[in-house]
Amino acid sequence: MSINKIINVKSCNSEIFIGDEVFNVLKEYIRPYQGSKIFILVDENTLQYCIPELIIQIEYLQNAEIIEINSGEENKSLDICYQIWKTLSDYKADRQSLLINVGGGVISDMGGFIASTFKRGIDFINVPTTLLSQIDASVGGKVGVDFEGLKNMIGCFNEPKGVFIYPNFLKTLNKRQMLSGYAEALKHGLIKDKKYWLELKKGMLSDSKNWLKLITTSIHIKNKIVLADPKEKNERKLLNFGHTIGHALETYSLNNDELLFHGEAVAIGLICESYISTKIMGLSTTELKEISTTILNQYSTYKFEESDFHQLIELMKKDKKNKKQAINFTLISEIGKAHIDKKVTVEIILDALNYYNLVAKKENSSN
Ligand SMILES: NC(=O)c1ccc[n+]([C@@H]2O[C@H](COP(=O)([O-])OP(=O)(O)OC[C@H]3O[C@@H](n4cnc5c(N)ncnc54)[C@H](O)[C@@H]3O)[C@@H](O)[C@H]2O)c1
Ligand SMILES: [Zn+2]
Repeated sequence: MSINKIINVKSCNSEIFIGDEVFNVLKEYIRPYQGSKIFILVDENTLQYCIPELIIQIEYLQNAEIIEINSGEENKSLDICYQIWKTLSDYKADRQSLLINVGGGVISDMGGFIASTFKRGIDFINVPTTLLSQIDASVGGKVGVDFEGLKNMIGCFNEPKGVFIYPNFLKTLNKRQMLSGYAEALKHGLIKDKKYWLELKKGMLSDSKNWLKLITTSIHIKNKIVLADPKEKNERKLLNFGHTIGHALETYSLNNDELLFHGEAVAIGLICESYISTKIMGLSTTELKEISTTILNQYSTYKFEESDFHQLIELMKKDKKNKKQAINFTLISEIGKAHIDKKVTVEIILDALNYYNLVAKKENSSN
């Protein structure tokens, strides 16, 4: 077994493995569970595109119980958790059982939450299969589900035993989903690493040779922040850049015709929150322009009306990251340097939403 080709990153109570040969390690990792029941959580796409490869590589997983749910953010819900807890119970899962989450962020967020709560907690492992989950959602131990139309309202912190990232799984992911993940990478560059931002700006998606570097750089940035502050008391809030407005837009879109993926909403959030950063943190307008142009060049523009702004503000007020009603932001003073706990007035947030509409319109008319 050539371990050299596997990148190993230590997290708090977990380990992350990245590379084409990670299943050699996974095979050993799950050996202790062979005497008990192993469950694999999938959706219809990961069942089709990822499970065959996994079973070729680890034959005895043929005996695992596969639990399939329908894909989509709308299924990251307590109703679906109920069904999965029931299945685990029907199949007599016990404290020694293992749940392997094979999928995107929906599967790892919900599967992690199910495992953390079933019989007060069983072990789980993440095998992330989307770019977003490979560079972000599968690590850091935030698990949970949406509730009453609000993102990630029910959940807890609990780390997987291990995370196994196999970049080749991205080959079946469509461009829109790849771009959704790319937004989190852009965020990582913007908050911590200008050099990485500049590389991303040039484009790292189209050539699969870049994927390993992309995944590894993002994982290192996220993991370092998580290690410093696992429960999000301080530094971990850096990772929320783009997400106060992003989450509001994502929730808003879930109740409207044109659905935004998580990373697409974050990409718009990055533009708006960079605009706010020019007003409050002294981010230069040159860097704001660089950020807006980079994002607008790659992502389709999204149409939301001025008449919906108040609804977005109400959603931001319900964000669980707020304290005492003030809307809380992470902002940047320059590319690569971020600051937490910045209070922003509704007026400036409205200006930021207007700014996005304006630059998006310009982008559309120039196409
Ligand atoms: N816990 C965290 O720290 C964290 C961080 C960021 C995002 N998130 C959460 O992650 C979720 C979004 O994750 P996502 O973007 O991975 O969404 P997702 O899980 O919905 O996956 C996106 C789509 O890709 C399909 N898919 C997955 N793997 C595939 C493959 N290899 N080939 C083809 N299709 C494939 C899925 O079936 C789905 O249709 C959101 O709920 C967000 O809140 C969590
Ligand atoms: Zn995110």
